[in-house]
Amino acid sequence: MYKRFLIIFVAFVLMLAASSPAVDDPHGTANSIDCGQCHIGHNSMGDILVNATDSLVSTLCLSCHTPGGWTPMAKTLSSSDKADPGVSGTSHAWDVPADNPSRGASTPTSQTLLDHLTADSRITCATCHDPHSNSNPPFLRLDNSADALCLDCHAGRDNSSVRTYTGSELSHPVGIALPSAAEYHNPPLDTDGNPQPSDGNLTNDFALLAGDVVSCTTCHGVHYTDSNSGTTDGP
Ligand code: HEC
Ligand code: HEC
Ligand code: HEC
Ligand code: HEC
Ligand code: HEC
Repeated sequence: MYKRFLIIFVAFVLMLAASSPAVDDPHGTANSIDCGQCHIGHNSMGDILVNATDSLVSTLCLSCHTPGGWTPMAKTLSSSDKADPGVSGTSHAWDVPADNPSRGASTPTSQTLLDHLTADSRITCATCHDPHSNSNPPFLRLDNSADALCLDCHAGRDNSSVRTYTGSELSHPVGIALPSAAEYHNPPLDTDGNPQPSDGNLTNDFALLAGDVVSCTTCHGVHYTDSNSGTTDGP
């Protein structure tokens, strides 16, 4: 145990020395955030040397990303925002087991997500987000422009799982383009019955991919989503 800690600590110090600055803004100089605000070298919990009171990375994230956190910010989250479908919540859950067949979720397959589950295989903020790099905005571990992040964990709901009539629980199609309005569909309508985005509230519009393709995020938001298409989402 001690040896493992020492190896990780030495590796951390070496990487610290070799990488400056290694954090993209706004997690860097723009907000005067340095490595030490998130990492500590000694006596930290867990194996990732983060500055939290337990081994859950989310505690660290929420020390800033919460109302009244270290740094004032517009978009905050609290534990009570975690979704319990049909009950409450406005945000995708975190600190929950990755393998949850009742939600069509299974352990991710990409190494980058697998590497950032907790030791007991739960998902945290840092499973989906890389706090260091904004290569895939907003700080995502995978480019989610075509749902790659969602489908890595919700593989059971990808397009191979629909329309197969196997008798098992299936799901709404994704990866399929809406038929053109000329065929037999209306364009998507707002709650007032007018074609989107005529009511001026863009947060309740379906977000179709290029070519009018339906994806998970056509219907689902990730954070600040109240599941009411008549209201404005987000702070
Ligand atoms: C906003 C918070 C934050 C800041 C600032 C930050 N880190 Fe991290 N870092 C994390 C978290 C969280 C993890 C662990 C992610 C996980 O495994 O779940 C991590 C992991 C690491 C790792 C392990 C490799 C990896 O990518 O998982 C190294 C090395 C590291 N950080 C170095 C640094 C250095 C060097 C700096 C300063 C230049 C820095 N970090 C600044 C949050 C931060
Ligand atoms: C030391 C404080 C601090 C910590 C700890 C911290 N953040 Fe942030 N984060 C910020 C600030 C400040 C912003 C910019 C907010 C704004 O502009 O309103 C930000 C922005 C973000 C954004 C939005 C980026 C964008 O371009 O819109 C994401 C995503 C994010 N943080 C994720 C995380 C995750 C995940 C963790 C934990 C691994 C974390 N943060 C930990 C301070 C922090
Ligand atoms: C299941 C994956 C997942 C988890 C878990 C998750 N996020 Fe996110 N987060 C996303 C995605 C995807 C987006 C981009 C969504 C969008 O732009 O609507 C996002 C966006 C954000 C943003 C930027 C919001 C904006 O509109 O600028 C912040 C800040 C953020 N997340 C923080 C967190 C924090 C803090 C946690 C943990 C308490 C967390 N996230 C957990 C996937 C996740
Ligand atoms: C790291 C794995 C992971 C990723 C990535 C992920 N999910 Fe999930 N998702 C889960 C797990 C696990 C649950 C079950 C949560 C629980 O126990 O309540 C879940 C639950 C949900 C729920 C039900 C609400 C809730 O939080 O329980 C929705 C809706 C959902 N996911 C949609 C998405 C969408 C859309 C994306 C892409 C933006 C996504 N998920 C990305 C693992 C993931
Ligand atoms: C056509 C719109 C639509 C699309 C596309 C869609 N969903 Fe859903 N999803 C819904 C609605 C509506 C509900 C709520 C159903 C209810 O309350 O019974 C839901 C519920 C869920 C739930 C929670 C309840 C449950 O059965 O587990 C999860 C998880 C989920 N969706 C994940 C996904 C994922 C992952 C994708 C992409 C593969 C996706 N959804 C695509 C509309 C959609």
